[in-house]
Amino acid sequence: MSGIMPHGGDLLAALLLALDRQSRYDRRHSEADRMALLTVRDLSVSFETRDGTVRAVNGISFSLEAGKVLALLGESGSGKSVTLRAILGLHHGANARAKGEVIVKGQDVNRLDERAREALRGGVVSLVFQEPMTALDPVYTIGEQIAETLVQHRPRLDRATVRRRARELLDLVQVPSPDRCLASYPHEISGGMRQRAMIAIALACEPELLLADEPTTALDVTVQAQILWLLRDLQKRLDLAVIFVTHDLGVAAEIADDAAVMYAGRIVERAPIHELFRRPAHPYTAGLMQATVRRGQKGRPLVPIAGAPPNLVALPAGCAFAPRCPSVQAVCTTAEPVAHPVASGHTARCHLIA
Ligand SMILES: Nc1ncnc2c1ncn2[C@@H]1O[C@H](COP(=O)(O)OP(=O)(O)OP(=O)(O)O)[C@@H](O)[C@H]1O
Ligand SMILES: [Mg+2]
Repeated sequence: MSGIMPHGGDLLAALLLALDRQSRYDRRHSEADRMALLTVRDLSVSFETRDGTVRAVNGISFSLEAGKVLALLGESGSGKSVTLRAILGLHHGANARAKGEVIVKGQDVNRLDERAREALRGGVVSLVFQEPMTALDPVYTIGEQIAETLVQHRPRLDRATVRRRARELLDLVQVPSPDRCLASYPHEISGGMRQRAMIAIALACEPELLLADEPTTALDVTVQAQILWLLRDLQKRLDLAVIFVTHDLGVAAEIADDAAVMYAGRIVERAPIHELFRRPAHPYTAGLMQATVRRGQKGRPLVPIAGAPPNLVALPAGCAFAPRCPSVQAVCTTAEPVAHPVASGHTARCHLIA
Protein backbone atom coordinates (compact mmCIF):
# COMPACT_ATOMS: atom_id res chain seq x y z
CA MET A 1 0.00 0.00 0.00
CA SER A 2 2.72 2.47 1.06
CA GLY A 3 4.38 1.96 -2.32
CA ILE A 4 1.26 3.32 -4.01
CA MET A 5 -0.02 5.95 -1.59
CA PRO A 6 2.46 7.81 0.67
CA HIS A 7 1.36 8.63 4.22
CA GLY A 8 2.68 10.56 7.27
CA GLY A 9 6.05 12.18 6.47
CA ASP A 10 5.96 10.71 2.95
CA LEU A 11 2.65 12.38 2.26
CA LEU A 12 3.93 15.76 3.46
CA ALA A 13 7.10 15.42 1.38
CA ALA A 14 5.04 14.47 -1.71
CA LEU A 15 2.73 17.42 -1.12
CA LEU A 16 5.63 19.87 -0.75
CA LEU A 17 7.23 18.48 -3.88
CA ALA A 18 3.98 18.90 -5.82
CA LEU A 19 3.52 22.44 -4.50
CA ASP A 20 7.10 23.34 -5.39
CA ARG A 21 6.60 21.94 -8.88
CA GLN A 22 3.34 23.87 -9.25
CA SER A 23 4.87 27.16 -8.08
CA ARG A 24 7.86 26.69 -10.41
CA TYR A 25 5.39 26.04 -13.21
CA ASP A 26 3.38 29.17 -12.27
CA ARG A 27 6.54 31.26 -12.07
CA ARG A 28 7.75 30.07 -15.44
CA HIS A 29 4.33 30.62 -16.92
CA SER A 30 3.96 34.17 -15.65
CA GLU A 31 7.53 35.00 -16.70
CA ALA A 32 6.71 33.79 -20.20
CA ASP A 33 3.52 35.88 -20.17
CA ARG A 34 5.41 38.93 -18.96
CA MET A 35 7.98 38.62 -21.70
CA ALA A 36 5.32 38.20 -24.35
CA LEU A 37 3.22 41.26 -25.05
CA LEU A 38 0.64 38.98 -26.59
CA THR A 39 -0.06 35.32 -25.90
CA VAL A 40 -2.78 33.49 -27.81
CA ARG A 41 -3.64 30.04 -26.44
CA ASP A 42 -5.79 27.53 -28.23
CA LEU A 43 -7.96 30.20 -29.85
CA SER A 44 -10.90 29.02 -31.94
CA VAL A 45 -13.51 31.16 -33.67
CA SER A 46 -16.54 29.69 -35.42
CA PHE A 47 -19.64 31.13 -37.02
CA GLU A 48 -23.09 29.53 -36.96
CA THR A 49 -24.60 29.81 -40.43
CA ARG A 50 -27.52 28.28 -42.32
CA ASP A 51 -25.08 25.88 -43.98
CA GLY A 52 -23.57 24.77 -40.66
CA THR A 53 -20.73 25.83 -38.37
CA VAL A 54 -17.95 27.67 -40.22
CA ARG A 55 -14.72 26.80 -38.38
CA ALA A 56 -12.70 29.90 -39.27
CA VAL A 57 -9.96 29.61 -36.62
CA ASN A 58 -9.14 26.21 -35.13
CA GLY A 59 -7.06 26.16 -31.96
CA ILE A 60 -4.18 28.48 -32.74
CA SER A 61 -1.47 29.34 -30.21
CA PHE A 62 1.34 31.83 -30.58
CA SER A 63 3.01 34.64 -28.73
CA LEU A 64 4.66 37.91 -29.68
CA GLU A 65 7.29 39.86 -27.80
CA ALA A 66 7.28 43.63 -27.52
CA GLY A 67 8.87 45.35 -30.51
CA LYS A 68 8.71 42.30 -32.82
CA VAL A 69 7.00 42.04 -36.21
CA LEU A 70 5.05 38.89 -37.10
CA ALA A 71 3.81 38.37 -40.65
CA LEU A 72 0.58 36.39 -40.90
CA LEU A 73 0.52 34.61 -44.25
CA GLY A 74 -1.94 32.34 -46.03
CA GLU A 75 -4.48 32.20 -48.83
CA SER A 76 -7.77 34.04 -48.81
CA GLY A 77 -10.17 32.62 -46.22
CA SER A 78 -7.45 31.03 -44.05
CA GLY A 79 -8.55 32.98 -40.97
CA LYS A 80 -6.08 35.88 -40.81
CA SER A 81 -8.59 38.71 -40.35
CA VAL A 82 -10.75 36.70 -37.96
CA THR A 83 -7.62 36.09 -35.84
CA LEU A 84 -6.76 39.81 -35.74
CA ARG A 85 -10.28 40.76 -34.76
CA ALA A 86 -10.32 38.08 -32.04
CA ILE A 87 -7.14 39.61 -30.55
CA LEU A 88 -9.15 42.78 -29.99
CA GLY A 89 -12.12 40.81 -28.67
CA LEU A 90 -14.07 41.81 -31.78
CA HIS A 91 -16.11 39.17 -33.56
CA HIS A 92 -18.27 39.89 -36.50
CA GLY A 93 -21.91 39.31 -35.73
CA ALA A 94 -23.95 37.54 -33.09
CA ASN A 95 -23.30 34.22 -34.87
CA ALA A 96 -19.63 34.21 -33.77
CA ARG A 97 -18.30 31.91 -31.01
CA ALA A 98 -14.79 32.33 -29.65
CA LYS A 99 -12.91 29.93 -27.35
CA GLY A 100 -9.42 30.04 -25.88
CA GLU A 101 -7.29 32.78 -24.37
CA VAL A 102 -5.92 36.05 -25.72
CA ILE A 103 -3.58 37.54 -23.13
CA VAL A 104 -2.42 41.10 -23.75
CA LYS A 105 0.05 42.36 -21.15
CA GLY A 106 -1.19 39.77 -18.68
CA GLN A 107 -4.91 40.49 -19.21
CA ASP A 108 -7.25 37.99 -20.84
CA VAL A 109 -9.15 40.04 -23.44
CA ASN A 110 -12.16 37.72 -23.31
CA ARG A 111 -12.58 38.18 -19.55
CA LEU A 112 -12.49 41.97 -19.56
CA ASP A 113 -15.69 43.98 -19.35
CA GLU A 114 -16.52 46.14 -22.36
CA ARG A 115 -15.05 49.30 -20.79
CA ALA A 116 -11.71 47.68 -20.03
CA ARG A 117 -11.69 46.17 -23.52
CA GLU A 118 -12.34 49.60 -25.05
CA ALA A 119 -9.40 50.98 -23.04
CA LEU A 120 -7.20 48.18 -24.36
CA ARG A 121 -8.25 48.87 -27.95
CA GLY A 122 -6.31 51.84 -29.16
CA GLY A 123 -4.56 52.24 -25.80
CA VAL A 124 -2.46 49.06 -26.07
CA VAL A 125 -3.56 47.40 -29.31
CA SER A 126 -4.63 49.23 -32.48
CA LEU A 127 -5.92 47.95 -35.79
CA VAL A 128 -5.16 49.39 -39.24
CA PHE A 129 -7.54 48.19 -41.94
CA GLN A 130 -6.99 47.42 -45.58
CA GLU A 131 -9.45 50.05 -46.84
CA PRO A 132 -9.43 53.28 -44.81
CA MET A 133 -12.56 54.55 -46.58
CA THR A 134 -14.60 51.95 -44.69
CA ALA A 135 -12.90 52.67 -41.36
CA LEU A 136 -12.97 56.48 -41.56
CA ASP A 137 -16.25 58.29 -40.98
CA PRO A 138 -17.20 60.29 -44.10
CA VAL A 139 -19.05 63.02 -42.15
CA TYR A 140 -16.18 64.08 -39.87
CA THR A 141 -12.88 65.75 -40.78
CA ILE A 142 -9.62 63.91 -40.24
CA GLY A 143 -8.84 66.35 -37.40
CA GLU A 144 -12.13 65.56 -35.66
CA GLN A 145 -11.55 61.84 -36.00
CA ILE A 146 -8.04 61.97 -34.56
CA ALA A 147 -9.33 64.22 -31.75
CA GLU A 148 -12.14 61.80 -30.96
CA THR A 149 -9.71 58.92 -30.48
CA LEU A 150 -7.42 61.07 -28.33
CA VAL A 151 -10.24 62.30 -26.11
CA GLN A 152 -11.80 58.85 -25.80
CA HIS A 153 -8.63 57.57 -24.15
CA ARG A 154 -7.51 60.80 -22.42
CA PRO A 155 -10.74 62.67 -21.56
CA ARG A 156 -8.89 65.35 -19.62
CA LEU A 157 -6.82 66.67 -22.53
CA ASP A 158 -7.63 70.31 -23.32
CA ARG A 159 -8.57 71.43 -26.84
CA ALA A 160 -5.25 73.11 -27.63
CA THR A 161 -3.29 69.99 -26.61
CA VAL A 162 -5.60 67.78 -28.66
CA ARG A 163 -5.06 69.94 -31.74
CA ARG A 164 -1.29 70.07 -31.24
CA ARG A 165 -1.15 66.30 -30.74
CA ALA A 166 -3.31 65.69 -33.86
CA ARG A 167 -0.91 67.82 -35.91
CA GLU A 168 2.12 66.03 -34.44
CA LEU A 169 0.56 62.70 -35.38
CA LEU A 170 0.09 63.79 -38.99
CA ASP A 171 3.72 64.96 -38.99
CA LEU A 172 4.72 61.57 -37.64
CA VAL A 173 3.00 59.78 -40.51
CA GLN A 174 4.63 62.25 -42.95
CA VAL A 175 1.54 64.03 -44.24
CA PRO A 176 2.99 66.96 -46.23
CA SER A 177 0.35 69.60 -45.30
CA PRO A 178 -0.92 68.55 -41.88
CA ASP A 179 -3.14 71.62 -41.30
CA ARG A 180 -4.94 71.12 -44.57
CA CYS A 181 -5.33 67.40 -43.88
CA LEU A 182 -6.75 68.06 -40.38
CA ALA A 183 -9.50 70.21 -41.95
CA SER A 184 -10.28 67.74 -44.77
CA TYR A 185 -13.02 65.14 -45.01
CA PRO A 186 -11.86 61.63 -45.99
CA HIS A 187 -13.14 61.94 -49.59
CA GLU A 188 -11.12 65.15 -50.08
CA ILE A 189 -7.73 63.44 -49.70
CA SER A 190 -5.97 60.72 -51.71
CA GLY A 191 -6.00 57.00 -50.83
CA GLY A 192 -2.41 57.18 -49.61
CA MET A 193 -3.19 60.19 -47.38
CA ARG A 194 -6.26 58.40 -46.02
CA GLN A 195 -4.14 55.42 -45.08
CA ARG A 196 -1.62 57.76 -43.37
CA ALA A 197 -4.51 59.39 -41.47
CA MET A 198 -5.76 55.92 -40.48
CA ILE A 199 -2.30 55.04 -39.17
CA ALA A 200 -2.19 58.37 -37.28
CA ILE A 201 -5.51 57.48 -35.61
CA ALA A 202 -4.22 54.00 -34.78
CA LEU A 203 -1.10 55.54 -33.18
CA ALA A 204 -2.97 58.34 -31.36
CA CYS A 205 -2.92 56.64 -27.98
CA GLU A 206 0.57 55.22 -28.30
CA PRO A 207 -0.27 51.54 -28.64
CA GLU A 208 2.35 48.86 -28.08
CA LEU A 209 0.88 46.46 -30.60
CA LEU A 210 -0.33 47.40 -34.08
CA LEU A 211 -2.46 44.94 -36.04
CA ALA A 212 -2.15 45.79 -39.73
CA ASP A 213 -4.60 43.89 -41.93
CA GLU A 214 -3.25 44.18 -45.47
CA PRO A 215 -2.78 47.93 -44.99
CA THR A 216 -1.35 48.53 -48.47
CA THR A 217 -3.32 46.32 -50.86
CA ALA A 218 -5.94 48.96 -51.74
CA LEU A 219 -3.23 51.38 -52.93
CA ASP A 220 -1.29 51.66 -56.17
CA VAL A 221 2.21 50.21 -56.22
CA THR A 222 4.20 53.43 -55.57
CA VAL A 223 1.98 54.48 -52.68
CA GLN A 224 2.05 50.91 -51.33
CA ALA A 225 5.82 51.13 -51.09
CA GLN A 226 5.64 54.52 -49.34
CA ILE A 227 3.16 53.28 -46.74
CA LEU A 228 5.25 50.20 -46.18
CA TRP A 229 8.39 52.26 -45.57
CA LEU A 230 6.40 54.49 -43.26
CA LEU A 231 5.14 51.52 -41.24
CA ARG A 232 8.61 50.06 -41.03
CA ASP A 233 10.07 53.39 -39.93
CA LEU A 234 7.32 53.91 -37.31
CA GLN A 235 7.73 50.36 -36.02
CA LYS A 236 11.44 50.98 -35.39
CA ARG A 237 11.08 54.50 -34.01
CA LEU A 238 8.20 53.67 -31.68
CA ASP A 239 9.44 50.15 -30.92
CA LEU A 240 6.03 48.76 -31.84
CA ALA A 241 5.10 45.12 -31.98
CA VAL A 242 3.22 44.51 -35.23
CA ILE A 243 1.17 41.68 -36.67
CA PHE A 244 1.16 42.30 -40.38
CA VAL A 245 -1.25 40.44 -42.65
CA THR A 246 -0.11 40.27 -46.23
CA HIS A 247 -0.42 38.14 -49.36
CA ASP A 248 2.90 39.53 -50.53
CA LEU A 249 5.82 37.38 -49.41
CA GLY A 250 8.27 40.09 -50.57
CA VAL A 251 6.64 42.55 -48.19
CA ALA A 252 6.76 39.98 -45.40
CA ALA A 253 10.48 39.46 -45.99
CA GLU A 254 11.13 43.20 -45.76
CA ILE A 255 9.09 43.98 -42.70
CA ALA A 256 8.85 40.92 -40.44
CA ASP A 257 11.06 39.15 -37.91
CA ASP A 258 8.89 36.04 -37.84
CA ALA A 259 6.12 34.48 -39.88
CA ALA A 260 3.10 32.34 -39.12
CA VAL A 261 1.51 30.56 -42.07
CA MET A 262 -2.22 29.86 -41.75
CA TYR A 263 -4.21 27.21 -43.55
CA ALA A 264 -7.89 26.47 -42.85
CA GLY A 265 -7.77 28.30 -39.53
CA ARG A 266 -4.60 26.63 -38.23
CA ILE A 267 -1.04 27.84 -37.98
CA VAL A 268 0.71 25.20 -40.07
CA GLU A 269 4.19 26.70 -39.88
CA ARG A 270 5.92 29.21 -37.65
CA ALA A 271 9.50 30.36 -38.22
CA PRO A 272 11.89 33.30 -38.27
CA ILE A 273 11.11 34.93 -41.61
CA HIS A 274 14.44 34.25 -43.35
CA GLU A 275 14.46 30.66 -42.12
CA LEU A 276 10.96 30.25 -43.61
CA PHE A 277 12.18 31.45 -47.01
CA ARG A 278 15.36 29.37 -46.86
CA ARG A 279 13.77 26.17 -45.64
CA PRO A 280 9.97 26.05 -45.87
CA ALA A 281 9.10 22.82 -44.08
CA HIS A 282 5.37 22.51 -44.71
CA PRO A 283 4.34 21.52 -48.25
CA TYR A 284 1.71 24.29 -48.10
CA THR A 285 4.33 26.97 -47.36
CA ALA A 286 6.53 25.61 -50.15
CA GLY A 287 3.51 25.75 -52.49
CA LEU A 288 2.69 29.30 -51.41
CA MET A 289 6.22 30.39 -52.26
CA GLN A 290 6.13 28.78 -55.69
CA ALA A 291 2.81 30.49 -56.36
CA THR A 292 3.95 34.02 -55.49
CA VAL A 293 6.33 36.51 -57.11
CA ARG A 294 9.22 37.51 -54.90
CA ARG A 295 11.68 40.34 -55.28
CA GLY A 296 14.79 39.29 -57.17
CA GLN A 297 13.02 36.23 -58.53
CA LYS A 298 11.07 37.82 -61.36
CA GLY A 299 10.96 35.58 -64.41
CA ARG A 300 10.74 32.46 -62.24
CA PRO A 301 7.66 30.51 -63.40
CA LEU A 302 4.80 30.68 -60.93
CA VAL A 303 3.19 27.38 -59.97
CA PRO A 304 -0.26 27.75 -58.40
CA ILE A 305 -1.22 25.31 -55.64
CA ALA A 306 -3.59 22.79 -57.20
CA GLY A 307 -7.11 22.52 -55.79
CA ALA A 308 -8.97 24.84 -53.45
CA PRO A 309 -8.96 25.42 -49.68
CA PRO A 310 -11.33 23.10 -47.79
CA ASN A 311 -14.92 23.85 -46.90
CA LEU A 312 -14.69 25.23 -43.35
CA VAL A 313 -18.12 23.75 -42.55
CA ALA A 314 -16.85 20.21 -43.24
CA LEU A 315 -13.10 20.10 -42.63
CA PRO A 316 -11.48 16.87 -43.81
CA ALA A 317 -10.23 14.34 -41.24
CA GLY A 318 -6.48 14.47 -40.64
CA CYS A 319 -4.44 17.28 -42.16
CA ALA A 320 -6.65 19.90 -43.83
CA PHE A 321 -4.04 20.34 -46.60
CA ALA A 322 -3.88 16.60 -47.39
CA PRO A 323 -6.34 16.75 -50.36
CA ARG A 324 -4.01 19.26 -52.10
CA CYS A 325 -0.66 18.03 -50.83
CA PRO A 326 1.80 16.71 -53.45
CA SER A 327 3.51 14.57 -50.76
CA VAL A 328 0.39 13.14 -49.11
CA GLN A 329 0.72 9.83 -47.19
CA ALA A 330 -1.97 7.52 -45.79
CA VAL A 331 -1.54 8.91 -42.24
CA CYS A 332 -2.27 12.45 -43.44
CA THR A 333 -5.90 11.65 -44.15
CA THR A 334 -6.60 10.01 -40.79
CA ALA A 335 -4.61 11.80 -38.04
CA GLU A 336 -4.25 15.51 -37.49
CA PRO A 337 -0.55 16.44 -37.34
CA VAL A 338 0.87 18.21 -34.30
CA ALA A 339 3.53 20.93 -34.49
CA HIS A 340 6.96 19.32 -34.96
CA PRO A 341 10.20 21.22 -34.33
CA VAL A 342 12.23 21.86 -37.48
CA ALA A 343 14.91 24.17 -36.10
CA SER A 344 15.22 26.76 -33.36
CA GLY A 345 11.97 28.79 -33.34
CA HIS A 346 10.76 26.85 -36.38
CA THR A 347 7.85 24.39 -36.19
CA ALA A 348 5.55 22.85 -38.77
CA ARG A 349 2.37 20.78 -38.50
CA CYS A 350 3.15 18.03 -40.95
CA HIS A 351 3.40 14.24 -40.60
CA LEU A 352 6.26 14.16 -43.09
CA ILE A 353 8.53 16.01 -40.64
CA ALA A 354 7.97 13.67 -37.69
N1 LIG B 1 -19.43 36.58 -39.84
C1 LIG B 1 -19.08 35.49 -40.51
N2 LIG B 1 -19.99 34.51 -40.78
C2 LIG B 1 -19.62 33.40 -41.44
N3 LIG B 1 -18.37 33.15 -41.90
C3 LIG B 1 -17.45 34.08 -41.67
C4 LIG B 1 -17.73 35.31 -40.98
N4 LIG B 1 -16.59 36.05 -40.91
C5 LIG B 1 -15.63 35.32 -41.54
N5 LIG B 1 -16.13 34.15 -41.99
C6 LIG B 1 -15.41 33.10 -42.71
O1 LIG B 1 -14.24 32.78 -41.99
C7 LIG B 1 -13.19 32.42 -42.88
C8 LIG B 1 -11.94 33.19 -42.56
O2 LIG B 1 -12.16 34.55 -42.92
P1 LIG B 1 -11.02 35.66 -42.84
O3 LIG B 1 -11.69 36.93 -43.17
O4 LIG B 1 -10.31 35.57 -41.54
O5 LIG B 1 -10.03 35.21 -44.02
P2 LIG B 1 -8.65 35.90 -44.43
O6 LIG B 1 -7.56 34.91 -44.20
O7 LIG B 1 -8.52 37.22 -43.75
O8 LIG B 1 -8.87 36.07 -46.01
P3 LIG B 1 -8.44 37.29 -46.97
O9 LIG B 1 -7.00 37.04 -47.30
O10 LIG B 1 -9.33 37.10 -48.15
O11 LIG B 1 -8.69 38.58 -46.26
C9 LIG B 1 -13.72 32.67 -44.28
O12 LIG B 1 -14.15 31.45 -44.84
C10 LIG B 1 -14.90 33.58 -44.05
O13 LIG B 1 -15.88 33.41 -45.06
MG1 LIG C 1 -8.58 39.19 -44.41
